Amino acid sequence: MNAKPEPAVLPLDVERIRADFPLLSRTVHGKPLIYFDNANTSQKPVSVIEAVDRHYRQHNANVARAVHTLGEEATASYEGARDALARFINASSRDEVILTSGTTQAINLVAYSYALPRLKAGDAILTTVMEHHANIVPWQLVAERTGATVKAAPIDTNGELILEKFFEMLTPEVKLACVGHVSNVLGTVNPIREIARECRKRGIPLLVDGSQAAPHRRIDVQALGCDFYAITGHKMLAPTGTGALWARREHLMAMPPFFGGGEMIREVRFEGTVFADPPHRFEAGTPNIAGFAGMAAAIRYIEDIGFDRLEAYEQDLLAYATKAIENLPGVRIFGRAKEKEPVVSFLLEGAHANDMATLLDLQGVAVRSGHHCAHPLMHFFGVPATLRASLAFYNTKTEVDGFIEAIGKVRKLLL
Ligand SMILES: Cc1ncc(COP(=O)(O)O)c(C=O)c1O
Repeated sequence: MNAKPEPAVLPLDVERIRADFPLLSRTVHGKPLIYFDNANTSQKPVSVIEAVDRHYRQHNANVARAVHTLGEEATASYEGARDALARFINASSRDEVILTSGTTQAINLVAYSYALPRLKAGDAILTTVMEHHANIVPWQLVAERTGATVKAAPIDTNGELILEKFFEMLTPEVKLACVGHVSNVLGTVNPIREIARECRKRGIPLLVDGSQAAPHRRIDVQALGCDFYAITGHKMLAPTGTGALWARREHLMAMPPFFGGGEMIREVRFEGTVFADPPHRFEAGTPNIAGFAGMAAAIRYIEDIGFDRLEAYEQDLLAYATKAIENLPGVRIFGRAKEKEPVVSFLLEGAHANDMATLLDLQGVAVRSGHHCAHPLMHFFGVPATLRASLAFYNTKTEVDGFIEAIGKVRKLLL
């Protein structure tokens, strides 16, 4: 008997998945919610909500302090999240994973612990025009204090980084390169492996802002070849106030702490303090213990789906949404990169993005409007704002149809 060949990637059962996300079944202004603001923050599955709830109901205690049972359980849960993260991004050691409140804290940690002590007048930090402010402003603050400069590599009108220019700009003054893996506005996926290879050839460390990549694609920090990788938990199903910085051990060992306080020391005397080894050296104070219980559950949820299925589904949905949006009269789409994550930024002729978003909300549609914390990118495209539909694996083509229908209604009101 000839067995039917298994499809390479099993399709994702989106209705079953949606049932795991309580918030997706609510209504807004009497309409079923269409949540297309996932690049801002994702919704949370029951398993994540329950992990946080379980922490407070059964395991609540501080970490790394108490020897009692609850303290040990809380510590095991918190450290378990580090293990889950290390696996999730394929770090070679759990000690290379610093738990942070998000990408902003992760990048600031590199800015203040790595860049600030090293940079001097005449040095430069290279970033790109498409970055989120979290990957611009910390470098400007370091530059102000050291006399270094911040340079930005250009992009083309498709929203792709002009790689030759970027490589040309990797001059000897550049002491750190900082690039987003995926643009939060354009969805552009930057070729991090290639960028890392060129940086490495020149001995320039590379930081990658992975805030918008980790929810959509398998991250392998060893294969990427970068030096620092920042992650946001709340965009990948985990609670707000969770995230991580991965860094090569040799960098972490050489970095002084950014915050001082409890949990990050080996011995404190008034003559001087001996700091703990990484990762705890960088985790002063009481962390978001319940949040990281949720983070571990979020990673388990994503791993259960599998990135092959998740990506296949999201890419199909992106193609469907892009086509539907392209067909809107008077539309201008921002971001036409060959490789994209499921984000579509656009404007409709004669309609302001904020007015559109406000009226769409009345139709139950949640989309973000504004500059998306990317002023230089808005400046490049010559617009103050865009409307951004950002999708996740729990969104559907039916929702895309509903979104387009809602836009039709809003247009009638506005134009
Ligand atoms: C590309 C990018 N970098 C950084 C951030 C900031 O991340 P966090 O909320 O984890 O601080 C965001 C959030 O919108 C983002 O989209």
